[in-house]
Amino acid sequence: MFVTTSRLYKRHLSEYFCKLPSRTVLLELGVYHGHTTAVLAAMFQQVISIDIEKSYLRVAAAHTKHHSNIVFLTADLMVGNWQMFASSGIKVVVVDANHRYEYVRADAHNALFYLPELEYMVFDDFGHEVGVQRTVNELQRDGILTDCLGIGQGWNGSRWQFRNWDESTGESFMSWTDKSEGIICRRGHTLTASSAQQFLDQRFYIYSQPLGKLCPAGIFRLLPDGRLETSIWGAGTWMKAVEPAGPDSERRDALLLELPGMAPGPIELLFNSPRSAFVLSRMGLTKSDWFGIRDHFVFEPFQLATRQFDD
Ligand SMILES: C[S@@+](CC[C@H](N)C(=O)[O-])C[C@H]1O[C@@H](n2cnc3c(N)ncnc32)[C@H](O)[C@@H]1O
Repeated sequence: MFVTTSRLYKRHLSEYFCKLPSRTVLLELGVYHGHTTAVLAAMFQQVISIDIEKSYLRVAAAHTKHHSNIVFLTADLMVGNWQMFASSGIKVVVVDANHRYEYVRADAHNALFYLPELEYMVFDDFGHEVGVQRTVNELQRDGILTDCLGIGQGWNGSRWQFRNWDESTGESFMSWTDKSEGIICRRGHTLTASSAQQFLDQRFYIYSQPLGKLCPAGIFRLLPDGRLETSIWGAGTWMKAVEPAGPDSERRDALLLELPGMAPGPIELLFNSPRSAFVLSRMGLTKSDWFGIRDHFVFEPFQLATRQFDD
């Protein structure tokens, strides 16, 4: 089955982890039919496996019925409450859900941010998914992941062929890569809320306050180089707001925006603690004029309700 990992990948996983003295709890993101789950369950005391598709998890549960140490959870990783895993003692995370850059990055950042006992991260489809490569490269560059080791096909730098597909036409065809199928890394520096920069290059829906309509007034995207792109207010800039001096001064997780298409003077953007939402107010005014929220929080209730129609 081409959706799952190769036998070599599974063998490399077991060679790597079975040597470790403590193989306690592993979190698997993206299960499909549970082919890799079964191997992980044979290596770890407890496996928590998450997938957005309940029907896939039913198949996975049937495939792994001889293992009693797997918990299958149906959840959308982009909106799930990661805080609930914080006390589970998770040592390893296998990232193999949605492979687009913003999803892989969010999965990796959430794992690194919310799981205090995390020691290892495994990424599947490193060899041919640019979103996975970009995430791993960025985390390695920042010292957040270290000692990365290729596993599976192409682990030794040799070229290998994989089944590729064209997103626009849905047609599949064969391609070559010299990067490894998967990669295992150790956790390096701690990822803090401020180093996570989760808000960068993400879509925030902007609503006018007081909230009267479900339809957003526009969209914001804060880019890593300090530019701000918007759907209707034109282009602007952002920078970190300067902290007020003094030990007793209130710490505010805020940015300063210049966006002439929205307001003539500077605008303060004040984040909530996970940086998934913010309020915007013109400098010097306490009243906020706009509310911003990550797009996936807006989709979530609709996706949840849609999944609850009968199959
Ligand atoms: C490549 S498959 C996983 C393959 C599996 N790990 C294996 O080795 O056999 C990716 C899976 O991720 C799931 N997925 C995609 N986006 C997701 C999301 N946002 N939250 C949870 N699961 C997601 C899909 O439903 C799919 O089953």
